Amino acid sequence: MAKVIRLEPIAEEMEVKTNSNILSALLSKELHVLKECGGRGMCATCHVYIKDGMESLSPVNRREQRTLEVITTAQKTSRLACQAHVLGEGIVIELPSGMYINAIEDVESLIGRRAEQELLHPITGDVVVETGKLITRSIINQLKETQFQVGEYMSRTTDAK
Ligand code: FES
Repeated sequence: MAKVIRLEPIAEEMEVKTNSNILSALLSKELHVLKECGGRGMCATCHVYIKDGMESLSPVNRREQRTLEVITTAQKTSRLACQAHVLGEGIVIELPSGMYINAIEDVESLIGRRAEQELLHPITGDVVVETGKLITRSIINQLKETQFQVGEYMSRTTDAK
């Protein structure tokens, strides 16, 4: 059985298999989702907002809850696309604007250019560089710190299992 979900603001509807997760639906649309933690519910790169139909999704699990608590842009409507399974109809998903920074190398090649989209922190979802702003070396340093935090965070989460 399939269910229909709607993606905003791109106004696309798509069919997904019942009980599949939102992330697989987004990836099948070739949307730019980095899934930094490999779909394990431990990063912010698949964070989406549910505009409607929250009750048609699987409940938030403990790991997802913990991750959502550290995302500063999280709201009551937040879910991690890799953890939320589609169980019913009427789901409307809002994709956050901007893109997530993956590797330092990605940004290094952008030094001296202006950001075409917001660059977002991979854990907190904070805006690191606003659209149109210059990408500088100090951002690289900030990201080195971030990567360290990601490593730390992951090992803590893994240890806590
Ligand atoms: S891909 Fe990391 S939390 Fe979903």
